[in-house]
Amino acid sequence: MQQYLRNIFHHIEALFDKAFDGALNPIRRLGPLAFFLYWIVAGSGIYIYIFFDTSVSGAYESVEWMTRQWYLAGIMRSLHRYASDAMVVVAMMHLLREFSYGRYRGARWFAWFTGVPIIWFLFFSGVSGYWLVWDQLAQYVAIGSMEWLDWLGIFGKQVANNFLSPATITDRFFTLLVFIHIFVPLFLLFIMWFHVMRLKSPRINPPKELMISSIIALVIISLVYPATSHDKADLSTVALNLNFDWFYLIAYPLFDAIGPGPMWAAGIGVTVLVSIIPLFSMRNRPAAAFVSLEKCNGCTRCAADCPYDAIEMKPRSDGLKFDTEAVVDPDACVSCGICVGACPVSTPFRHDEEMQTGIDLPSQSLKNMRDEVVKVMKTARDEAGAVGNGTAVVVFGCANGINLEKLKSSINLPDCSVAVMGVACTGMLPPSFIDFAISRGEMDGVVVTGCRENGCYHRFGQFWVEDRINQLRDPNLRARVPRERLRTIWAAPTDLAKAADETAAFCESLPSITKDDGVG
Ligand code: HEM
Ligand code: SF4
Ligand code: SF4
Repeated sequence: MQQYLRNIFHHIEALFDKAFDGALNPIRRLGPLAFFLYWIVAGSGIYIYIFFDTSVSGAYESVEWMTRQWYLAGIMRSLHRYASDAMVVVAMMHLLREFSYGRYRGARWFAWFTGVPIIWFLFFSGVSGYWLVWDQLAQYVAIGSMEWLDWLGIFGKQVANNFLSPATITDRFFTLLVFIHIFVPLFLLFIMWFHVMRLKSPRINPPKELMISSIIALVIISLVYPATSHDKADLSTVALNLNFDWFYLIAYPLFDAIGPGPMWAAGIGVTVLVSIIPLFSMRNRPAAAFVSLEKCNGCTRCAADCPYDAIEMKPRSDGLKFDTEAVVDPDACVSCGICVGACPVSTPFRHDEEMQTGIDLPSQSLKNMRDEVVKVMKTARDEAGAVGNGTAVVVFGCANGINLEKLKSSINLPDCSVAVMGVACTGMLPPSFIDFAISRGEMDGVVVTGCRENGCYHRFGQFWVEDRINQLRDPNLRARVPRERLRTIWAAPTDLAKAADETAAFCESLPSITKDDGVG
């Protein structure tokens, strides 16, 4: 089911990729977009609060006055509503997407666990907003909510009865509602901050273009379909024919149908179940990265590149002349291997058997990587040799991108041999491996493939790869490597055919170089 959902997201993303260039695709920016929508809701909320009358008798008229002023207060009211609705859609899509990618595993449990109460607070914020309009929908929501709370017996008496007679609802109670509608969203903001606080450099703002287009879209919707109210609340009647907000009020018809007890059971049950999803993956957690002090010179690159803040530079403990050493926190490490790609000692240009590096992964050591790449390159070279002067390329791919074996078998060119090697994340690949493959004349070209543009499963791996290739980040790819012999293909598993075509075209375009021409 998870894989199925993930594929659906890949297809939706592909559609959006056609309209937005990869870097701006909103589906890959759902968390930051939800943050941005929060700011729109907060800004428009502050504006409409200026004109809002917090009394039972005046609230409805003050909202109606705003609605009639279509150009400013009216737009602000509509923006407030539609940005809130959009926030529900975006937050739920974000939840589903993170789930489908399994991005709750290991140290990521914290972001997942703190995401769950966000949903509750988002709903509380929206529902409390609907009360303030004090129209017939507010009446329906207020009575429904109170019946729901009454079932718990926390008030000592039946509070819902307060709503059955016009005499029992006071301005004081109404001021309390206003207070709730301000306090709950503030608490929501606090949880949102908590949600990302353990992430290194969390991206809480979408790109400028996405912000501007979101505002324009929301303003257009506000102008075309301005938010309106129902008739004024009348507690002596039962409201019928309500125009529902299915984003926030979806639970109420269900509540009417099944009653408060089962609704509480369903709400709490689903919350607990969703919260403990990360527990199910704890057993198969891969072993954390480890540091070999005799090879670590304290350069700090691994700590700078680790997307999960799992590495701390501490004072040297082994008496070597360096000031610091890298220390891994195994609980925060998700075994992405990006630190291995960052370590300057991680190079295949060595002859020692052990191939020890400063920081390594138990599940895929640098030595294994070197041995494997040598093996697959030799096979591809032999195949290319067998057809005369054929071309050979090696594809380094990450565990979350296209299936490498399928890619290899999809390329059926007689004069092009493909070797493939998988790594946990493309950021794990030290740039010296690209140098190793090309400069020694082993391969005619190298392809590095990983998750779609800006969609790196491990957050920053893809950025570091680009920066290392473009010599913007150490360890960088040496200038002697001809860049025309290197191709990056950012693709999801569903892009297999496209990636295979690109790899085949790249392979065919490569002039063959022989071992003797190699630089290394
Ligand atoms: C208003 C609602 C929410 C907002 C504003 C929000 C915001 C964010 C942001 C800004 C990020 C960081 C993106 C990055 O830098 O890569 C993030 C990541 C994440 N969020 Fe949310 N989020 C919300 C709701 C949720 C919910 C409901 C869940 C799930 C229960 C959730 C689960 C996650 C997970 C698992 C990550 C990934 C952490 C990682 O990459 O290690 N979020 N969220
Ligand atoms: S493998 Fe390295 S980069 Fe990845 S989380 Fe662990 S320490 Fe950080
Ligand atoms: S990148 Fe390598 S050498 Fe540098 S601090 Fe980390 S483990 Fe040590």
